[in-house]
Amino acid sequence: MKIKFNDLIKSLLFITVLTIFNSCNVGRFQGFSSHDGSLMLTVENHNGMLTYSLSKNEKVIIENSRLGIKADKFDLSDGLKAITWDSKDHEGKWTQVWGEQKEVEDNYGEMLVSLKSNKNAFKMNVRFRLFDDGLGFRYEIPEQDGIDSYNILDEITEFNFAEDSPSWWIPAYAYRRYEFLYANTLISEISRDKFSELVEDLTGPRIGPEAVHTPFTTQREDGIAIAIHEANLANYSSMTLKANGTKNMECDLMPWSDGTKVKAKGALNTPWRTIIVGETAADLPLSTLTLNLNEPNKLENTDWIKPGKYIGLWWEMIGTNQSTWGSGPHHGAQTERVKEYIDFGSKYGFDGVLVEGWNTGWDENWCCTGDGENFGFYEPHPEFDNEEIAEYAWKNGIRIVGHHETGTQIANYESQLDSAFAYCRKNGIRVVKTGYVNDGSKNIKRIDEDGNVQKEWHHGQYMVEHFRKVLETAAKYEVSIVVHEPIKDTGLRRTYPNMVSREGARGQEFNGFMPIDVHNKPDHTTILPFTRLICAPMDYTSGIFDLKDYRYNSPDDRTINTNHHIPSTISKELAHYVVIYAPIQMAADLPENYKGNPAFQFILDVPTDWEETKILNGEIGKYITTVRKDRNSDDWYLGSITNENARRLDVQMSFLESGKEYNATIYKDPIDGGWEAKPEEVIISNVQFKQDDQYTVELPPGGGQAIRFTPKSQ
Ligand code: NOJ
Ligand code: CA
Repeated sequence: MKIKFNDLIKSLLFITVLTIFNSCNVGRFQGFSSHDGSLMLTVENHNGMLTYSLSKNEKVIIENSRLGIKADKFDLSDGLKAITWDSKDHEGKWTQVWGEQKEVEDNYGEMLVSLKSNKNAFKMNVRFRLFDDGLGFRYEIPEQDGIDSYNILDEITEFNFAEDSPSWWIPAYAYRRYEFLYANTLISEISRDKFSELVEDLTGPRIGPEAVHTPFTTQREDGIAIAIHEANLANYSSMTLKANGTKNMECDLMPWSDGTKVKAKGALNTPWRTIIVGETAADLPLSTLTLNLNEPNKLENTDWIKPGKYIGLWWEMIGTNQSTWGSGPHHGAQTERVKEYIDFGSKYGFDGVLVEGWNTGWDENWCCTGDGENFGFYEPHPEFDNEEIAEYAWKNGIRIVGHHETGTQIANYESQLDSAFAYCRKNGIRVVKTGYVNDGSKNIKRIDEDGNVQKEWHHGQYMVEHFRKVLETAAKYEVSIVVHEPIKDTGLRRTYPNMVSREGARGQEFNGFMPIDVHNKPDHTTILPFTRLICAPMDYTSGIFDLKDYRYNSPDDRTINTNHHIPSTISKELAHYVVIYAPIQMAADLPENYKGNPAFQFILDVPTDWEETKILNGEIGKYITTVRKDRNSDDWYLGSITNENARRLDVQMSFLESGKEYNATIYKDPIDGGWEAKPEEVIISNVQFKQDDQYTVELPPGGGQAIRFTPKSQ
């Protein structure tokens, strides 16, 4: 149960707790609680080793975990002396350029511990910030006397869970980046072998440790849910969590090809290590701690960043298999076909039309080794008349969404970056989807200082810095970015609001190119909100209406490949637009599959920028119901989805404004339907609701429900 304190009491509590610990532990042991009193952090310097523990509702959830950094030129993991313990309280609020909610409260207590290594007087600060929704801490390494550049070899950051609880995870150091279904095991059971047994075969030679990606989510017996992640990942390599067969986990940094973890020069702040904590799992998706731990917006003018919806010449390659990215008789990105998409998009008020295969580079081996032909990022394919298309789109009031598949040829892309984004600006392109397909594990080519080719990991410092370079260049040309095969979301969108969305998980595409036995399972999108989507938009690309018998055997052989059946329903596809947040959402199916279907109206209506969001209910891997209020009207939207099981969920309409009556348009599956039985049948009905009404959402197996609420004019 959360205790509410008024402002005065909050500050008093913060100061009191610090004083108590100070007085009895004289600089060795300190602690304080979050503003709402539910979280309590203690930090101890014991025999030269710094440790922390975290409690929720007076129960220890992370116990006695070590902190420290080891570099080639200094060791700040042992023999430490705490010099000062400074604390302060912060209360603030800021407005998002776009988001799940307009206003974000930024309230925390902070403690800064400054330390010295006993032996050689190297210095380090550890800054802790405790919010109501979790803890963030980072290492701050000031300039060290006589040391210019150095390599971090290891970060001794432990996360020792008090309980061995069920957890949801995807493996790190595996071939397909973040694009896996989730495993659900006890923390102590995490291993690649277990993943192979439960999810997908990853046996065979390994070149990395036993580790998982973050956000890594676990839920205790008492219902408290915890996600370990990081915020503001910059100039550093990404953190994975090493598993060792116990309930304890440890930070493991993705290395460079030479084995060092981070290459640094001068003063350095690490990313924030975060522990997001919820009373229940339903608290996790709305945590704002990740955003609060990022720097404020750096872009002076953001008027050019527009949330919205797009269609695209995409599913006909990746899904229906009728067209190709590369040249040939079935090349998709041909001027006339693109104009048909523009006509459709403009008729229905879409903001963009994505076109893939518009440029050169797709003809030789582009996928998936990094060894293909070089892509040209401002050279249109001869069948794509870029000037004619730009003008046609302009006249029809719609924009082309650009596409930069790099095939992970980083040097090639970086050499064209400015010209590529200048091309976008010239052609009215204000959003670009980038891509980094390379299915090798440690297979990203980097040319070192001596001109030799080195192979890097997708999630190491080299790529973190590359992704930032692209984002900053795009901002210069007023272009927003949707990254596929990205580095994970650590809240960078606060600083660069042109970082609008990213993939970074298994998306809808797997239902396109993979056969039914390896499609995304019905529970996949009931896991994502509690893991990958915590405070992070995703380009999942929902909205497939033709869910069965949609894929041809090949572009030449137009017979149906019966091995494909998306484990979803049209109503669930609609609900995803509310459940899976992104400021730029795709209606992914072909225009012809939307024409004449009344359920399409929901996709046309649903906004992508919100005033407010609430999670009404949710259990990881089972179900979730999300409601959001439009930022530009008084409408509310509800999305509810289930896994493979049918269920009834009672929801209170208490989110609606009091004294108002709402017309609700409900899009639901028939009760004897579901992903197998009647995936494409949608029942649309109109009902009136008021704030004190209760409603039962009925979901068949693998189904969903979407509702639009519009206040009746008074
Ligand atoms: C993988 C991306 O996720 C997908 O959306 C894209 O179409 C292909 N790469 C080609 O770039
Ligand atoms: Ca992908």
